Amino acid sequence: MRLDIITIFPEMFSAVLDQSIIKRAQEKGKVQIFKHNLRDYSLDKHRKVDDRPFGGGPGMLLQVEPIFRAVQAIKRKIRGKSKVVLLSPQGKKFNQIQAKRLSQEKNLILICGHYEGVDERVREHLVDEEISIGDYVLTGGELAAMVLVDCIVRLIPGVLGDKNSLNFESFEGNLLEYPQYSRPAKFRSWKVPPVLLTGAHDKIKAWRQLQALRQTRSKRPDLLKKI
Ligand code: ADE
Repeated sequence: MRLDIITIFPEMFSAVLDQSIIKRAQEKGKVQIFKHNLRDYSLDKHRKVDDRPFGGGPGMLLQVEPIFRAVQAIKRKIRGKSKVVLLSPQGKKFNQIQAKRLSQEKNLILICGHYEGVDERVREHLVDEEISIGDYVLTGGELAAMVLVDCIVRLIPGVLGDKNSLNFESFEGNLLEYPQYSRPAKFRSWKVPPVLLTGAHDKIKAWRQLQALRQTRSKRPDLLKKI
């Protein structure tokens, strides 16, 4: 997969892209990630990329022209189809199902919006999908883009070592993950549930299924409606 990120703060991404699993995924060639500074696509001599809204009102909007130029330049470099995603609080709410769907794309172009807004023509003419990571307003789409990249890249085949770890994690089948314990079996007076120490795989499986249901019922009853 190839990911292109258009942003006015490319440096912000190092925190996520240059560490841990996402870093290794790039080293293994599972994903190529390119950051593009939107200012590089400005025609203005001061590299300006925002302006006041027509009709008045507070704040500045990201202009359509630099975004258009950035998207065009990236599309020229990509061979084949690409999906253009705008990160904004107005978008469709991101979830694990969308993460899976997007992880199957060959080329994704992420545009980080600005909290004060983006010229509507970006949505009308340049963007295939608009995605929000939740009902709250960030100062820009950068953190949201990092959330998407993190969720999507770990789903690319071969990125995580253990294939099974994906099958049993939270939200698979709309259930939260069952509780897990590691050594020691007893710490202070806090004991691991005895069934997990028996080695009886069927019983453990049944216990885990029940616990996943219980966890979901108590923490996220809304998910049970989807089953
Ligand atoms: N930009 C600002 N807030 C956002 C959000 N909640 N999701 C995606 N992009 C955003």
